[in-house]
Amino acid sequence: MTLPRRYFIKLLGSAVVVRASHCLTSTSAKVRTTSKNATTARKILVAHRGASAYAPEHTLEAYQLALEQGADFVEQDLQITRDSALVCLHDLTLERTTNVREMFPKRFREELVSGSPARRWYVSDFSLEELKQLDAGSWFDTKFKDARIPTFQEAIDLVRGKAGLYPETKAPEVYGGSGFDMERLLLSILKRNRLDQPNANHHTPVIIQSFSPEGLRKLAGTLKTKLPLVLLVSDEAPTSWLTMAGLPKVTRFASGIGPAKALVDKSLVTQAHALGLSVTPYTFRSSNTGRFKTVREEMNYYLYSLGVDAVFTDNPDLFPRAPINPRQSTNNF
Ligand code: G3P
Ligand code: CA
Repeated sequence: MTLPRRYFIKLLGSAVVVRASHCLTSTSAKVRTTSKNATTARKILVAHRGASAYAPEHTLEAYQLALEQGADFVEQDLQITRDSALVCLHDLTLERTTNVREMFPKRFREELVSGSPARRWYVSDFSLEELKQLDAGSWFDTKFKDARIPTFQEAIDLVRGKAGLYPETKAPEVYGGSGFDMERLLLSILKRNRLDQPNANHHTPVIIQSFSPEGLRKLAGTLKTKLPLVLLVSDEAPTSWLTMAGLPKVTRFASGIGPAKALVDKSLVTQAHALGLSVTPYTFRSSNTGRFKTVREEMNYYLYSLGVDAVFTDNPDLFPRAPINPRQSTNNF
């Protein structure tokens, strides 16, 4: 059974209430404009890999900054270590965002990439203790040299009570091929934290996302989770999920779609909403705003002209809580 969009939005709304009430205790000028009556109608800010425009992605530093910048949800991409720990990292491998080459120079696998050999240091070849030795911040800025790859538990401990969690099962089929069960691991840790049911913790709603329809089907079917599930849809390969024929199929196992922003237009949003599906496009970042002058304008257009429910953004501080000059935004397109 899947949850209708109104339920999903209710969950999202609870996160906003939490964020607002949390912030109301602060002295932020931004927060003084928050109206409790407006919370349920408000759009949802998902901090993509944390506040990853300003701090190294998927570090506690980036998550903490996202909370300070008012995120409703903080996203975690999940990988699995050799000893079955769920950790927060975007890539299956460690070389892009850590100093694994220097720390473990011989622990690579050699692969052919476009006909040329390439060295890859896979997360699943390392124990958690080994991963914790890695510097996960210097690649971004040396001032973050002490940043470490967080476990999902550490992310929960930091975010709980302040915002929602938005874990993504990354490549569950790849991990499945090595004997890991990412979906069960995820639900198990959520259960240990009493976060495995919708409304279990009004301060910390949980939404699970994945590019893997099979993984989501397993979560909804075999594992019977009632948590909201969001199907991510990439623009890098053809897909039928977002068609008139495909969207109704999504409702069988998910309550929302998370398309690449290039795939989103008004028609898609209207069709998805008519089926009860929420729409949360990715990724909005100041470093790539396409035809828009700023990422704030870009998010404004998607949220208030196209009507999406939420966005994934690297720049939580630039999220438009209310429409910015909506007439101008509409007239742009
Ligand atoms: O999960 C939404 C978005 O993050 C999907 O893209 O590659 O950044 O995980 P990616
Ligand atoms: Ca992601």
